[in-house]
Amino acid sequence: MISIKSQKQIQLMHEAGKLLASCHKEIAKIIRVGLTTREIDLFVEKYLSKHGATPEQKGYRGYPYATCASVNDEICHGFPTDRPLMDGDIVTIDMVVNLKGALADSAWSYSVGNISNTAKHLLAVTKESLYIGINQAVVGNRIGDIGYAIQKYVEAEGFSVVRDFTGHGIGRSLHEEPQVPHYGRQGRGTRLQEGMVITIEPMVNVGTWRCKVDANGWTARTVDGKLSAQYEHTLAITKDGPIILTEQ
Ligand code: MF3
Ligand code: CO
Repeated sequence: MISIKSQKQIQLMHEAGKLLASCHKEIAKIIRVGLTTREIDLFVEKYLSKHGATPEQKGYRGYPYATCASVNDEICHGFPTDRPLMDGDIVTIDMVVNLKGALADSAWSYSVGNISNTAKHLLAVTKESLYIGINQAVVGNRIGDIGYAIQKYVEAEGFSVVRDFTGHGIGRSLHEEPQVPHYGRQGRGTRLQEGMVITIEPMVNVGTWRCKVDANGWTARTVDGKLSAQYEHTLAITKDGPIILTEQ
């Protein structure tokens, strides 16, 4: 069942999302060569707690950290570590904010120092693909229209779209129906309705879309060792178009 949110509920999720966006802004300010993803994780936990919120990912199905920190060939669900970030790394920080029971989910890829031209192209295309997907999130369209638009753009740029992880409905729990694949066919899937809240979170790879999961049972990385990036927003479907809840 897909839950339809009231305006009040969407407003509360927007408050959570604004806090999440401000946290990403702070990360953008502090990220540099030598910082560890463990330090970023601790920073996020403190920042949220200072603002009356909690990191929903911590303890979710046994996930041990406040954030996911996925470096270079890691696609998603990377564990924060004590390895200092190096010049040329790209790192995706993904977090879910719980503010008074309302959730918001957003991931952002960051560059560390000077990154390669391929990495720059990857970040630009992945971010653009998120907004291309968001533009399709209008009443009357179907879930498949979102994935179709993202895949078409990403593949035209020479990259691939991860299949094993999708966007999702979100509300009082982190993963609700429907699933939102970032690939697919036009006109297929659930019709989008006013009051649905979903995430769109394309993971884009330089090489193959195929991934493998580490022995920790969580971290997904590219099978070919090439780079992967991700940008994610939480958005509400309204009759006036999508409202991005994870922006300030
Ligand atoms: N933010 C992630 C998502 O988009 C949540 C990952 S699940 C966790 O679905 F357990 F790692 F937190
Ligand atoms: Co998500």
